[in-house]
Amino acid sequence: MCGIIACVGPRRTVDRLVTGLENLEYRGYDSAGVAIQNGSGVEVHKRSGRVGELKEEVPLGKQADVGIGHTRWSTHGPPTDENAHPHTPSDENVAVVHNGIIENYSELRDELEAKGHEFTSDTDTEVIPHLVDERLEETGDPEVAFRETVRELEGSYAIAAIMDGHDGLFAARQGSPLVVGLDDDAHYLASDVPAFLDYTDDVMYLEDGDVVVIEEDDLSLTDLSGTPVAREVQTVDWDPSETGKGVYDHYMLKEINHQPTALSNTIQGRADPESETVQLEDFPPETFEDVRDVHFVACGTSYHAAMFGAKMLRDGGISANAYRASEYGLQTDTIDDETLVVAVTQSGETADTLSAMRQAADKGASVVTVTNVVGSTAAREADESLFIRAGPEIGVAATKTFSSQVVSLALLSQRVLGDATTGEQRDDLADFLASLQQLPEHIEQVLDFSAAKRLAQHYSNHNAYFFIGRGVANAVAMEGALKFKEITYEHAEGFAAGELKHGPLALVTDRTPVFAVFTGDEDHDRKTLNNAKEAQTRGAPIVSVAPADHPSLEFADEHLQVPSSSPEWVGLLANVQLQLLSYYAAETLSRPIDKPRNLAKSVTVE
Ligand code: G6P
Repeated sequence: MCGIIACVGPRRTVDRLVTGLENLEYRGYDSAGVAIQNGSGVEVHKRSGRVGELKEEVPLGKQADVGIGHTRWSTHGPPTDENAHPHTPSDENVAVVHNGIIENYSELRDELEAKGHEFTSDTDTEVIPHLVDERLEETGDPEVAFRETVRELEGSYAIAAIMDGHDGLFAARQGSPLVVGLDDDAHYLASDVPAFLDYTDDVMYLEDGDVVVIEEDDLSLTDLSGTPVAREVQTVDWDPSETGKGVYDHYMLKEINHQPTALSNTIQGRADPESETVQLEDFPPETFEDVRDVHFVACGTSYHAAMFGAKMLRDGGISANAYRASEYGLQTDTIDDETLVVAVTQSGETADTLSAMRQAADKGASVVTVTNVVGSTAAREADESLFIRAGPEIGVAATKTFSSQVVSLALLSQRVLGDATTGEQRDDLADFLASLQQLPEHIEQVLDFSAAKRLAQHYSNHNAYFFIGRGVANAVAMEGALKFKEITYEHAEGFAAGELKHGPLALVTDRTPVFAVFTGDEDHDRKTLNNAKEAQTRGAPIVSVAPADHPSLEFADEHLQVPSSSPEWVGLLANVQLQLLSYYAAETLSRPIDKPRNLAKSVTVE
């Protein structure tokens, strides 16, 4: 939530800030703004609405050696022009952008108001520039003033500031991501790498407590007390071309279509059907020997992927559960030294998930993260990381990263079952791994022949959309409904198929299509089939999401076909059909598909 971009260097223009904001818009899009040093002072342009609207107002092409920009996902105060960042004190000598929450802002605001500072916004952020201004007056030293300000803040923050009369950029991090980009003649600072990936792939991730002062030819990194610290420079392997929309109308459609490639990358070098082995880089044989119990913690789409992981472990005889990270708290009482906690998070920055990881680590659990972002907070805090290698995902609705998470968790679960003395790998491991290798091709088939667009148009204008399934198909039903509601704004719910009759059936009418997900698991499918018939008897149109020749086709009104494979992969393929269904339903309703209202891709507050 909220995106920060800043750059320092000769001829860095407003354009680079605006392009950076466009690349970060997935983090929030309630308002946007930039501030630059224009040679005679700090110049601010900001407004509510999207970056496209800001673009109409800023002096594109204007040269500036230092500037900051921000795209906002509102926490304190509605998305108005006044609440847009950057914020300044009355005499506009300091401009600040901030991501996170300043918990002691009301005490600080009272103190500052008592000293005569006038506030113009409802935000917690505005205390920061006023405080810098106050300390600047006392000390006369911009760096000292910035550091002293940061020391007074409580809460979580990523902050970037510029000051009149100083050519540098000041930044600090506590609980919200910040990464520095290093180019030959310029430095960048951003919430995430895509903001500046067009210019450089050499990066330095800041850590909590870091304060950095960046000038054109100098970078000084210290802790809050001013003691120098060093951070490693890394090269990221994301390709800048991956961050554009290419030939697609939306990032979401591009990312759905990118799944065969993303999955080939996820699988690469990790699964060998012939020797029936799974190799995961940082997890040598016997890593999981002592594991008896696995807790998955995750939010949103990642939680649905975690449900797959837990199911696969339980099938192999290891106790495993998926927890919503925001509700994890009490479960930490059951942690012992045989508990493995797996945090599943695309961004590696979700505050609820990071909090669950920290609670688990405090209780002595081994913590592994399954994430897409090398250098993310989750990757740095976990004992070990398994990277899903899906490449950058820009659409707010997660698609390709869900598929790559499911496959990564399938591989991880077989590794855990292989090592742990209480678990057993699947009997059909060779077939399972062979069918995994066919998965990219199977997804191509779904993409080529899907009837999702026709069905999305056919069922638009209905009252609500229900998704049902058992086992891994339950996770697919939940994910299908989440995607549908996120981007269409229509009422959609996912249910465990067996639960439909225990209440939700009261909602079923001929205006509520039911999408029933079948995986080829005979026992599950037989029961789900009955549940779908129960809904049909109450008038609901039934769409079977299932392989060809499935028994459900004898009565279903419509069919979204998926190739036959292992039940887990059929579930994943069914999910691709449901991604397409949501996409085309949102397109039919002319929704802003990549940036659904009120949502952000990465939510860094609890
Ligand atoms: C936000 C996004 C969801 C995402 C969830 C978890 O709520 O809108 O799409 O699934 O965060 O994100 P993570 O990066 O931890 O997977």
